[in-house]
Amino acid sequence: MNGRQRFLTALARQPVDRPPVWLMRQAGRYLPGYRATRAEHGFWEVCHTPELSTKVALEPLKRFALDAAIVFSDILVIPEALGAGVSFEKGEGPVFTTTLRSREDLARWNTNNLMDRLQFLPNAVRHLAAALDGSHGILGFAGAPFTLFAYSVQGGGSDDFRHAKALMATDPQLARDVMNLFADAIAELCLAELSAGADAVQLFDTWGGLLTREEYRAFAAPALNRAIAKIHSSGKPVILFIKGGMHLLEVFKDIDLDGLSLDWRMSFAEARAALPTKILQGQLDPVTLFAPEAFVREKTRALLRDLDALPGGSTGCIVNLGHGILPGTPEANVGALCEEVAAHVR
Ligand code: CP3
Repeated sequence: MNGRQRFLTALARQPVDRPPVWLMRQAGRYLPGYRATRAEHGFWEVCHTPELSTKVALEPLKRFALDAAIVFSDILVIPEALGAGVSFEKGEGPVFTTTLRSREDLARWNTNNLMDRLQFLPNAVRHLAAALDGSHGILGFAGAPFTLFAYSVQGGGSDDFRHAKALMATDPQLARDVMNLFADAIAELCLAELSAGADAVQLFDTWGGLLTREEYRAFAAPALNRAIAKIHSSGKPVILFIKGGMHLLEVFKDIDLDGLSLDWRMSFAEARAALPTKILQGQLDPVTLFAPEAFVREKTRALLRDLDALPGGSTGCIVNLGHGILPGTPEANVGALCEEVAAHVR
């Protein structure tokens, strides 16, 4: 069974020889090959050039026993294509040249022929799929509506996204309209990635955990359901990543997602109890990868034992981190994690 077969079988919630593994941000700055490419090319240039995006997406697959590739891009491509003006300043995270805080700001967004400006992403998937030729699964992705809303209103990263929350309080209809606009763009982009060869898409709701259950139900969930309903016309699965979303497990029962990607504080046992039929993915703490290698191996084996102990066992489970790999992560520990998963055959 190759990586793609294992990944597809797990997505179909059928038994596999061992759970598949891939890692969020597996193509990032912890790899010397990525840093070398970035020394010569800007971030958006890498995204827009299929040869470069494929090169960086393949780097981790050459080194580690991973079962799936994730196309190289960013969740902020949609606000960028709408005209928000997104750049990544060294060490600062994303910076927007505009913020969206009023109907007038919304009217300035350019929604005409949006997919033309995002065509580079399905092009990157097509190029990656040709290079892999069925050896590994392929994930497409997009940001979830609330997280894209949060960045666009705030105008960059934040601990609390106070401007986004304030707008939800003062003009809830505008907030809903913006999230619905994102939902439609996300759906169109994901459908294009899927028809270009992605096997599944992951929606990143990195900041969704900042919302209360009531706020998530009122704002984030309807927009997510709107996007997912459209993406499901492809027949392919949608996985949602949420950070700090322990309190939202019961809300996810009412969202038509196929899988949930857990952060390191969430337990597979609790998630399985709340969501008995969903794909579950996660959730090793990315900080664990800075510990001695023996500890990384022990933690990985403990996770695999936890999966085997679930009702139904590890069927429908995918090993991943609870958040993206951090810059500076020792490569050897990423290798150790993948080796332990690869060795865990039934
Ligand atoms: O390997 C992969 O996972 C593929 C590509 C990928 C990137 N970003 C590349 C990237 C993916 C899946 C993302 C998702 C993403 N981007 C998320 C959701 C996941 C998460 O980490 O919470 C979010 C919130 C973003 C927004 C974003 N993009 C931030 C906050 C930053 C800057 C801070 C940082 O971590 O570097 C980016 C830039 C970015 N996206 C980089 C990479 C490799 C670093 C840019 C550089 O090379 O300088």
